[in-house]
Formats: sequence, structure tokens, C-alpha cells
Amino acid sequence: MAGFAKRMAYMQSTADVVRYLFESMTDPETISFGGGAPAREALPVELIHDIANEVLNREQRGSQALQYGNPIGIPDLRQAVIDHLLQPKGLQARLENLIIVAGGMESMNLVSQLYLEPGDVVLVESPTFIQSIQVFKMFEARCIACETDEHGLVIEDVTAKIKQYSPKMIYVIPTFQNPSGRTTSLERRRALAELGSQHDIVILEDDPYCEMRYSGEALPPIKYFDETGNTIFVNSLSKIFSPGARLGYTFADRNIIDKLYEVKTATNSHTNVITQVLCAEFFNRGLYEPHLKRIRDIHRERRDTMMNCIKFMLPDANHVYPDGGLFTWVELPEQVDTTAMLEEAKAQKVAYMPGREFFVEGQPIRNNCMRVSFGSVPPEKIQVGMERLSKVIRSKL
Ligand SMILES: Cc1ncc(COP(=O)(O)O)c(C=O)c1O
Repeated sequence: MAGFAKRMAYMQSTADVVRYLFESMTDPETISFGGGAPAREALPVELIHDIANEVLNREQRGSQALQYGNPIGIPDLRQAVIDHLLQPKGLQARLENLIIVAGGMESMNLVSQLYLEPGDVVLVESPTFIQSIQVFKMFEARCIACETDEHGLVIEDVTAKIKQYSPKMIYVIPTFQNPSGRTTSLERRRALAELGSQHDIVILEDDPYCEMRYSGEALPPIKYFDETGNTIFVNSLSKIFSPGARLGYTFADRNIIDKLYEVKTATNSHTNVITQVLCAEFFNRGLYEPHLKRIRDIHRERRDTMMNCIKFMLPDANHVYPDGGLFTWVELPEQVDTTAMLEEAKAQKVAYMPGREFFVEGQPIRNNCMRVSFGSVPPEKIQVGMERLSKVIRSKL
């Protein structure tokens, strides 16, 4: 048997965790706070059914949807992203600044292909999103974590690590961060854009939760403060349209998009055209804004239920109150090891993500934390699941 590439060893533990999450999400008896899926009630099934019925025939867009597509994506979806998602954030984009990709994750992959050489350093938040780490490691990058607090990355630590490691890239999830649920403050967004420009570092801004706000005021993205083109803004349509559709986009200077076009062509030619057509129609028929309001209401109720449960059932825990997104981050007393506790939680038919997996070299690994997702669990089940989980936790105290 031929040996697997060395990089597969770096990816193993992350791959195991992702596998565990999918298993916990598909066991009907387990209440899973593990994965990051939106509510099934939030998926626009009926709307897409009607759109598909109308446009997927030869007279309309049927042939376009089943034909090969342009690597950069169909123009009307790119225009819809500009009109409905970028302009409201104060981001000025033209069609040539945007490429449609296969889900938010593909941007991490394409940008890594474009920039990362083996051994390059990527600075990340501590904790950070495990799947992106998996991608950076696939390109044999070294991921170094920087300190964070309730306002996001601590700029002094980022500055010190820029000096120490000369990183190629800084990866940031500024809004309702995965896994912590925290949001980077306005001042730090500006500071990160400036650091990228000053030191010629790619700021990879990954913002898939920014539209999913349930309280508080929206902040401009890091990209808004970028004057040199060093910030690349990547996003996903998974939470606001459909994760199964596998759609996302990258917004950057034209010379970067031109290069990503080449990388995308060599990777998978183009993004699925059927889902691009359906999604473009969804925006262009004015269905997105009312849908967003509906899904915010659904998730706000879940967030509120989860916060109440944590407050009353886990009084010894520190936790983050997220103004949006799908997660909160719970820090338990030091003696609780959330990885070791997983087996007992499994036996009690409740799942969560142990915190350890979200830490990388550069900051302490915290065994007493967990990511708790409320998005895919209906309110009454959140209550039952949290009763199960708090019982398991109490047995450790
Ligand atoms: C921070 C972050 N980036 C990217 C993604 C990936 O999005 P997609 O499912 O569209 O690939 C997720 C999904 O959970 C995420 O949390």
C-alpha cells in the first residue's frame, strides 16, 4: 500500500472531532449542542421548491443551471451579493471583485493555495475554528494562536507575534466568533486592517455569522478599514440560505480575484450552477430580507432559551452572551475536563464540543471549556438537553 502524505497525520485529530460531531448530530436520541448547523425550520424549503418549479425548465434557466459555468460564478448571484450583503455593510465592490465558491470553507482552501508555502505562519485567535486550522495544516502552515479577550484579538499580542514570527496571514472571525460567540470591537477591527497594511500580511476575515444578529448594533467589517487590499473578506451563504447548497463568496482586490480564478479552475472548475441560480432568484425576488427576519427570530428564541438554561443550571460557569450566531462558550471550574467528560455525556444522550480542540500552539490549551451550539435544537429540547448536560457536569464538581 502506498503511504499517505505526511500532512494527513497533522489533520487526524481534527478529522476525528468532525466525524464525532456528525455522528452525534444524526443519532435521533441524542440532543446535540455539538454541530454548527442552523435550525431546520430556518431552511427556505418551500421558497426554493417554488423557485425551482418555475425556473428549472428549458424556456427559463434550466439549461444554464445544468450547463458548465464560469469559475468566477454567475453574474446575477455576484450582483445580488453586492447589493444585498456587501453594500449594506459599507463595502464598495464591483462584479470583478467577487468570486462565488463552494461554501464558506472553500475560500479558506483557495486563499491558502494562493498564499501559503509549507512552514508559513498563520496567526489565529485563541480559541479558533477547527476546520480552518485543518485547511491551513493541509498546506503545512504553522498555526500560532494569539491572546483574545471579550473584545476579540488582543492587538498587543498580535503585534508581538508579528515581530516574532513574520506571519503570512492572520485569520480572524470577527463576529459571533466560532467557537467563542464573541465579537471583535470596532477599534480592533480598524487596528487589524492597519496591521495587515503596515506589515504586508493577508488578513483573512471570515464572517459567516454577521447577518445572524439578534441584539445589539452591527459593526463594519475589517475589510471596511482596509486601504491597501491586504484584507480578504470571505463569507458563506450557509447560514442565511442553505448549508447543503454549498455556496459562499470571496471579496478582494481584482488582482487577487484574478488569481483565485486560476486556483478555482484547477480545483473544481466552478461552483455548482443549479444552487447559484436558485440562490440568485431567491435574492432577486426580494425573498432574502423577510427570510432573514424570520430566521433571526427563530434563532433569537433559541439563544435566549440557552442563556436562561446556562444561568440557572450552570451557576458556576463563566459564559459568553452572544448577540448573534449559533454558539456560546462555557468555561467550567478548572477541575472539569470536558474532553474526558464526553463519554458520560454521550451515555446521557447529550453532545457538545470539548474546548480543547479549538486551541493551537501559542496560547494555553484549556480543558475546562466547551462550545455549546443552540442553532439546530428547538427550545423545548434545549431545556431537556441542558438538564442532561448540567447533571453530567454537576457530577464532576
Ligand atoms: C467560522 C466559520 N467559517 C467557515 C464556516 C464554513 O461555512 P460553510 O459551511 O459554508 O462551508 C463555518 C461553518 O460553520 C464557520 O463557523
